[in-house]
Amino acid sequence: MAALENQVAIVTGASSGIGRASALALAAEGARIVAVARRAERLQSLLQEIEARGGQAAAVPGSVADVAVADAAVKTALDRFGRIDILLNDAGTNGLKRNLHNIGVDEWRRVIDVNLNGAFIFVNAVLPTMRQQKRGTIINIVSGAGLRSSDMAGSAYSASKHGLRALTGNINIEERKHGIRGVSIYPGEVATEILQMRPVPLTPEELSQMLQPEDIAAAVVFAASMPQRATVEDIAIRPTVIRIPQ
Ligand SMILES: NC(=O)c1ccc[n+]([C@@H]2O[C@H](COP(=O)([O-])OP(=O)(O)OC[C@H]3O[C@@H](n4cnc5c(N)ncnc54)[C@H](OP(=O)(O)O)[C@@H]3O)[C@@H](O)[C@H]2O)c1
Repeated sequence: MAALENQVAIVTGASSGIGRASALALAAEGARIVAVARRAERLQSLLQEIEARGGQAAAVPGSVADVAVADAAVKTALDRFGRIDILLNDAGTNGLKRNLHNIGVDEWRRVIDVNLNGAFIFVNAVLPTMRQQKRGTIINIVSGAGLRSSDMAGSAYSASKHGLRALTGNINIEERKHGIRGVSIYPGEVATEILQMRPVPLTPEELSQMLQPEDIAAAVVFAASMPQRATVEDIAIRPTVIRIPQ
């Protein structure tokens, strides 16, 4: 039997990068997937890929900052698949103007709204079901910038990821008694589309030495498939070749 047979996972940010790779990896272990992101056509191609491999999946297009989207994801999971075992909060963003001298209030709010508020909105939406089930795994894709502030990642991104790390901590403090466990994953640089928003473009050689989305997906599957009695609280993964020491 596959490690996640009969389990159901809501995956935000499933249209590309780490979220897409994680949805495929979770589905390969038997999980049924509810995929969330704004780009509906990308979600459709993910669904086709999961179904072509014998899995089951549904798409809920929209922004994670929208409470109605989180509610729709929960409803879809329950109507289609009957339960929610895993929430992967992967959706994340950054911008070209990311440092204190140029970010401004609107851009600060946009980044916090997706990276931190969006994660809370999804946690808030799944908790009643997980409490009722007396089990659930919530995995937050944080960042090295959630452990140490980074000028390369920027001020709002660093603040949002510190907040996301704290959210995992409170899930473990407040919800463990209901059988719900929180996991923070702290990737170093991963070669994904989000790096296209770097103010200084990366070379193909730099990208090739970075982590790949599949590396983080393997950590997601590991944390989700540990026995219910074990909570993997933190996983830090960095490229073997460190480009920028931080
Ligand atoms: N790449 C890295 O070096 C790195 C390192 C550490 C942590 N991370 C984190 O890893 C996570 C995934 O990023 P990635 O590297 O895989 O980059 P990516 O390929 O750009 O993926 C970002 C995902 O977030 C989704 N997203 C963005 N804004 C959204 C919104 N408002 N509502 C719903 N979905 C939204 C995007 O989908 P749509 O555009 O279709 O909405 C996309 O699926 C992020 O949280 C990021 O901060 C990345």
